[in-house]
Amino acid sequence: MTDPQSWSFETRQIHAGTSPDPTTGARALPIYATTAYQFRDSKHAADLFALAEMGNIYTRIMNPTQDALEQRVASLEGGVAALAVASGQSATTLALLNVAEAGDHVVASASLYGGTYNLLHHSLPKLGVTVSFVENPDDPENWQSLVQANTKAFFGETIGNPKGDILDIETVAGVAHRNGVPLIVDNTIATPYLIRPFEFGADVVVHSATKYLGGHGTAIAGLIVDGGTFDWAGGKHPGFTTPDPTYNGVVYKDLGAPAYALKARVQLLRDLGPAISPFNAFLVVQGIETLSLRLERHVGNATKVARFLESHDAVDRVNYPALESSPWHGAQQKYAPKGAGAVLTFELHGGREAGQKFVEALELHSHVANIGDVRSLVIHPASTTHSQLTPDEQLTTGVTPGLVRLAVGLEGIEDILADLEAGFRAAKAV
Ligand SMILES: Cc1ncc(COP(=O)(O)O)c(C=O)c1O
Repeated sequence: MTDPQSWSFETRQIHAGTSPDPTTGARALPIYATTAYQFRDSKHAADLFALAEMGNIYTRIMNPTQDALEQRVASLEGGVAALAVASGQSATTLALLNVAEAGDHVVASASLYGGTYNLLHHSLPKLGVTVSFVENPDDPENWQSLVQANTKAFFGETIGNPKGDILDIETVAGVAHRNGVPLIVDNTIATPYLIRPFEFGADVVVHSATKYLGGHGTAIAGLIVDGGTFDWAGGKHPGFTTPDPTYNGVVYKDLGAPAYALKARVQLLRDLGPAISPFNAFLVVQGIETLSLRLERHVGNATKVARFLESHDAVDRVNYPALESSPWHGAQQKYAPKGAGAVLTFELHGGREAGQKFVEALELHSHVANIGDVRSLVIHPASTTHSQLTPDEQLTTGVTPGLVRLAVGLEGIEDILADLEAGFRAAKAV
């Protein structure tokens, strides 16, 4: 057999992290529906609890089905380890709390999914972690100017949801590293098939696996991937260099490359508890097995939809980085040469009312708060996903009153376009 390290993305999306079940021969990934695992003897139990040996103890912290998902996503991202958790939100929460505690500070792009913006703007400050938002993340100076002595991480989305801007990962990672902090990126819209953040200097990747990794709109799930290259001993992150009294004084930086993923698992997942169910881990693994095929089709359909919208006389502007008209077209060619994903937004003549009428008239498109489904989805962000933000905050995340967001699915393109045309007829009546 060829060396698994040399396998292509397409091979790893099917094989990484799984092999036939040694007990039963089951070829597909079994769902290990168990809460706990039998210890061999008292020493085995004590060693597992002391981290002297790694192994299954309790499904809140690890599970074999979850492990297969973690290994597969770590392999696809090119990281050293991953941690699967209950949702994309918990992935972002744990990823940040793993490096920042009360009294610390994070610098984040303002171009974020509304739920992430709320987390960073409202909930993290309640825990004592403050966040400064970079309103124009394309200029590295804007990141640098917000750095404080207590800054512990930079955060951004590789493709902003819904703005469709592409993070200049290499430049922003450079600024982060000059300040001794990691760059944590949310790679949900791109997936590792389209953007590989570690190759450009990012240190940690998070995912809402609910979206394109799962791909079918069936499971909520999240992942944190550890790039394994950040120097946690640099002086800014005492959580990695001081003994943890809850594990006999273990010092995480001494545990080698996956120190970050390990710490997130054994401290934060253990104590805060957002564990993924083995069934959801199984569903996401099923989805990942066709990731490249789905993404190729998603990108193909989204590009056709973007061009159709751009040439439509009812549309004011279309935001999709693969269009030459996008300010992020150059960045897309550098970071996402295979395509810019399948989330795009556009502004209709007639503003908010036209946008809402358009959404209501669609039949093939499902009107839901989601992206990354095989089905085409539509939503009006200002009145839904981003409705908790003030109008000014909405604008900084790229949400204007008449903006419509599409998550282009895998249906026949002629049917998708015909449905959109029906929406335009309804909006025209406004
Ligand atoms: C870019 C992005 N990150 C994170 C999340 C949160 O993920 P979840 O819904 O799995 O908690 C979402 C959800 O829409 C998202 O779009």
